[in-house]
Amino acid sequence: MDASGMADGLEPAGAAALEPGARDLLRRREAVLGSGYRLFYDRPVRFSRGSGVYLYDPEGHAYLDAYNNVPAVGHCHPRVAEAIARQASTLNVHTRYLTEGVIDYAERLLGTHGGGLDRAMFTCTGSEANDLALRVARHHCGGTGIIVTANAYHGVTAATAEASPCLGPGVPAAPHVRVVPAPGPGFATHVAEAIGDLRARGIGLAAFLADSLFSSDGVIADPAGFLRPVQDLVHEAGGLYIADEVQSGFGRTGGHMWGYQRHGLAPDIVTMGKPMGNGLPIAGLVARHEVLDDFGRKVCYFNTFGGNPVCVAAAAAVLDVIEEEGLRENALETGAYLKASAEGLAAGSAIVSGVRGAGLFLGMDVVDPVTGEPSGRIASRVVNGLRERRVLIGATGPAGNVLKVRPPLPFNRAHADQLLAALAQALAAAPQPKS
Ligand SMILES: Cc1ncc(COP(=O)(O)O)c(C=O)c1O
Repeated sequence: MDASGMADGLEPAGAAALEPGARDLLRRREAVLGSGYRLFYDRPVRFSRGSGVYLYDPEGHAYLDAYNNVPAVGHCHPRVAEAIARQASTLNVHTRYLTEGVIDYAERLLGTHGGGLDRAMFTCTGSEANDLALRVARHHCGGTGIIVTANAYHGVTAATAEASPCLGPGVPAAPHVRVVPAPGPGFATHVAEAIGDLRARGIGLAAFLADSLFSSDGVIADPAGFLRPVQDLVHEAGGLYIADEVQSGFGRTGGHMWGYQRHGLAPDIVTMGKPMGNGLPIAGLVARHEVLDDFGRKVCYFNTFGGNPVCVAAAAAVLDVIEEEGLRENALETGAYLKASAEGLAAGSAIVSGVRGAGLFLGMDVVDPVTGEPSGRIASRVVNGLRERRVLIGATGPAGNVLKVRPPLPFNRAHADQLLAALAQALAAAPQPKS
């Protein structure tokens, strides 16, 4: 699940307009899957194949993927597929035996971090990685307090869901969780107040936990460096800074491998997931050994599938492709081009009031042209309008009004131009001011 995509998870009102095969599949799906699932789009899309930055429906129509970050190096990348097949036909066990791949990979992964982060642990999902990070932080610091932002999403386990305000009133924050407004003026002051409030109630700080791109808060990237005073405050209070890089990691923000590096931070724990295996379930954390050691001495950690050789082979191939295809550099260059062009579109549109982001992750604010208020309804029209033009994006933010553009990293200028042309049409077709 990508919680930041929930804003556009709609009941498929357009089901009747589906071609018969898709309509039948939808009926069968509703008959067997639990009701918690949501499909994207008024008229859901059915896919049978993916390649690079395109997904294909069974009729062979190509959809430009400007949304999915899990296939970070491109859908079904042959290098990754080959690594998976080779490892699956050679050996697939777990971390209780000595195997080479996981150690090679841990060495490489740690090498992309530096800053004293010298130990890795592997899980299957980003939720498990954050859950483990919170356990480690509580063990290390002695306190239980956690600070997160107003519309943060950190996972599906009990502990991470209770620290994910984006899940709404159905999942209340735990008593030891403090929620601060999304970054903006006075952000560090809000964090200081949250620390003070925890202290006043006798709750010690364990961790400040933040997505380095604040994806579900509406994509907040700038100014680079604004998180440094927060890191200092957290450390002064005896807590750990946990950088959640599930969204912002593996080159997404352009140039840097990790979103926290863009802010010049030195986190105590970094959690990773989604793009790590280009679609295979591998996630994990890195930390300083001083932070992990006592936890590790007292707590045995075995995650059956975490860091298994097949997933690790996929993850190693992902690192190869990121470097060999220059995907961090591409995210920087194509991302800058896309952002500048999107700003041009915004300047000529009464319904886009701002563009934010870093690298290949953009957020565009959609407002009601009459009231100027955030409009999730109009954003949804734009998202669905793009889907009808066979271009995939999503919506995020507390009001669901922030267009979320987050393509696989091989997205180039020609892809950006295809997206921008369709976006210009979809914006023009959305409600305009009555002048
Ligand atoms: C910032 C962030 N952290 C954690 C997670 C949870 O990852 P997973 O779905 O792999 O458990 C997500 C998923 O959307 C996320 O966006």
